[in-house]
Amino acid sequence: MKKNRLIHISPKKTSVSTRAIHGTKLYAYKGPLTTPIYQTSTYRFNSSDDAVRFAKGDPSVYVYTRYHNPTVHDVEERLALIEGAESAALFSSGMAALTTAVLAVTHAGDEIISTPSLYGGSYRWMRDVLPKQGITVRWVSPDHLNEIFSLATPRTSMVYFETPTNPTLDIIDIREVVKHTRRAEKRLGRKILIMIDNTFATILNQDPFALGVDVIVESATKYLGGHSDIVAGCVVGSSSYIKDVKGLAKHHGGCLDPFAAFLLGRSLATFELRVQRQNDNALALARALERHPKVNRVLYPGLRSHPQHALAKKQMRAFGGMLTIEVKPSRKRTAVQAAVTVADHLRVAVNAMSLGGVETLVSIPVYSSHIFLSKEELRMHGVTPGMIRVSVGVEGIDDLVADFRQALDRI
Ligand SMILES: Cc1ncc(COP(=O)(O)O)c(C=O)c1O
Repeated sequence: MKKNRLIHISPKKTSVSTRAIHGTKLYAYKGPLTTPIYQTSTYRFNSSDDAVRFAKGDPSVYVYTRYHNPTVHDVEERLALIEGAESAALFSSGMAALTTAVLAVTHAGDEIISTPSLYGGSYRWMRDVLPKQGITVRWVSPDHLNEIFSLATPRTSMVYFETPTNPTLDIIDIREVVKHTRRAEKRLGRKILIMIDNTFATILNQDPFALGVDVIVESATKYLGGHSDIVAGCVVGSSSYIKDVKGLAKHHGGCLDPFAAFLLGRSLATFELRVQRQNDNALALARALERHPKVNRVLYPGLRSHPQHALAKKQMRAFGGMLTIEVKPSRKRTAVQAAVTVADHLRVAVNAMSLGGVETLVSIPVYSSHIFLSKEELRMHGVTPGMIRVSVGVEGIDDLVADFRQALDRI
């Protein structure tokens, strides 16, 4: 009789979809096809020795779901395989993931260098919360990445950034971030962790590890989850770093629920299919809207008109499912009123805040993610009142183009 064999596959030899579907269980013939939902808070010990083995670090002893859970663990392994990294940790949200990831290496008195064009929640956390914990954030302009070198001090623990940015779809040169950070490291003689929020592009469209980045954080609520039905986050990197992250996560308590992990694992199987379709739909919609008389600009890195199209081509495999349109004001309506009119008259696309799902969603940045930013901050982030951010889903492209056209006709 054949043995039940779990074969650890080499990530380099299989496609993303094969890794996403089979994980480390490729060629295993026994047991349930899908990993069951271990919907439990705790685990039976064989004997009290198990508690001691756990305390000494034996990873095979499960104790408590805030520490670890087999369903969560299975998805973490698959995620690490997909992203081509040693290890991954899942969290109850993207914010739980990124805050734990930052605090795992940053302590009172330390400094972080970050670009300012971040997801609103990340930006506000860095602007408002970190300083209260004695952590200084130094902002570097994406147009002057060489300043990373001079901004870095012996207290700098990490460089943090996002690309493409939200909602303006600017591209930050990943190679440049890495180059200037490594130069600073040499000067200071200390390790500076480079962390990227890869939520918008995902590993399918942009591989930051191949360009020298150390850590990827992501809101798994978005493309990884892909169905607008879970909130989750992940941190991906080296085994030793993820061990530290998980150590802190035990205290901070942002563990992913096993059922959400199951749904996330289920979504990973169609991750590549969904993202390919979203890429195709986004490019087609961007091209169609670019020619529309009521549209001022379409911001999409895959368009030749995008000011950083060449850089996008250099560091991205495809350009993702996110685009932003800026509508023109009319005689009757200001720019923001025109944006509201479009958002409120869409019938296929939904007016809702999130992104990355199979459904096309739109949101108006000055009414949502950027509502509490000052005029000066909006200018710094390049956000204007007529902008509508579109997260393109997997619907039929003709339906989407027709939907946006009829809504734009209402301006
Ligand atoms: C780019 C980006 N990073 C992080 C987050 C935070 O993720 P979550 O909402 O899952 O906490 C979001 C949420 O919209 C996001 O868009």
